Amino acid sequence: MRAAVLHTVGLEGPFAASRPLEVEDLLLDEPGVGEVLIRIEAAGLCHSDLSVVNGQRPRPVPMALGHEGAGVVEAVGPGVSDLVPGDRVVTVFVPSCGTCQPCAEGRPALCEPGAAANNAGTLVDGHIRLRRADGTPVNHHLGVSCFAEQAVVHRNSLVKVDADLPPEQAALFGCAVLTGVGAVVNTAHVQAGESVAVVGLGGVGLSSVLGAVAAGARRIVAIDLDPHKLDLALELGATDAFNAADPDCAAQVKAATGGGLEQTFEMAGAVPALELAYAVTKRGGTTTTAGLSHPDRHMALQHLSLVAEERTLRGSYIGGAVPVRDVPRYIELFQRGRLPVDKLLSSVRPIADINEAMDDLHHGRVVRQVLVP
Ligand SMILES: NC(=O)c1ccc[n+]([C@@H]2O[C@H](COP(=O)([O-])OP(=O)(O)OC[C@H]3O[C@@H](n4cnc5c(N)ncnc54)[C@H](O)[C@@H]3O)[C@@H](O)[C@H]2O)c1
Ligand SMILES: [Zn+2]
Ligand SMILES: [Zn+2]
Repeated sequence: MRAAVLHTVGLEGPFAASRPLEVEDLLLDEPGVGEVLIRIEAAGLCHSDLSVVNGQRPRPVPMALGHEGAGVVEAVGPGVSDLVPGDRVVTVFVPSCGTCQPCAEGRPALCEPGAAANNAGTLVDGHIRLRRADGTPVNHHLGVSCFAEQAVVHRNSLVKVDADLPPEQAALFGCAVLTGVGAVVNTAHVQAGESVAVVGLGGVGLSSVLGAVAAGARRIVAIDLDPHKLDLALELGATDAFNAADPDCAAQVKAATGGGLEQTFEMAGAVPALELAYAVTKRGGTTTTAGLSHPDRHMALQHLSLVAEERTLRGSYIGGAVPVRDVPRYIELFQRGRLPVDKLLSSVRPIADINEAMDDLHHGRVVRQVLVP
């Protein structure tokens, strides 16, 4: 089966010329105990994929990329009794083991064996099911590797969803929506009537804007460097928009909002964006960040403001999700017209365009591109 494989990290753009990803023929093992073979129907391109390509999220290569997928079950391995061939599924990028301490505490996003396997490029049970014709193993990306025709994944990397949902929309629920909406409702617990700012308006940040609308925020301030993203955020329900490129952006936001917002979100994956989100947080407020910077990057934090203003700074991974609970909830909100995530879909293109699609994401020309085999 064909899959997009990253062979070298850190090649210079344009990727259409340097071609860090190659669509190759790979061999896929049969699903083992607790594993499932799926046929991929659609896969969203997230900034976290680009961050593996450019080295911001260091991962072992060769690696078959893609972690935001939708597909259909083709076969199940021994011990999988709750999925059958034909079920439509969405992938989840932390394969929770179900028994470690975070899993036992109801925080599967923090699964310890899941995180270790994701760093190593294996499935959660340590297996690698992808190889080249000469037998060399190819690493899995976040237990998923869905820029491909098929994938073998652990059962716990999948959530069964409504079969009627079009796959190119279903895929978005696996990462952008789960992360962006979850940061608002699970991590920050935004209450009806609270004020919100979102810094960074890609697929993740715009999902946070939609989540804030659904949660009943009274004011939603959208902040990005790109005016087109600001326009889209206003269409999706943001009440105000500010350009982070203005040197006095933080002062403008504070002046317009009477001293800042109660709940702010950093969804760009950049330290300046986190510093801006913190700067526009009101006294007593909470700054939540889901952006993923390079491990060497640090923010400067004024200790005094955290204490004397009783501020909170929190991280949010996969939107603090319990995926089997949250993916169906967000899908039902979408189906009832209360979470219009289809507006995040910029284009549907073939996997063969993967390098060009990475260029378009890098240049901020798109929100969510979905690749189809
Ligand atoms: N925590 C998680 O579980 C999780 C899950 C998915 C993605 N992510 C991370 O979330 C981030 C966003 O992902 P995405 O796919 O939406 O990315 P994206 O590239 O589609 O969007 C990022 C947006 O941030 C804007 N931006 C960049 N720097 C900025 C700045 N200094 N100030 C204001 N805006 C700025 C860009 O213009 C762009 O619109 C990435 O870092 C990604 O790796 C985290
Ligand atoms: Zn992602
Ligand atoms: Zn676990």
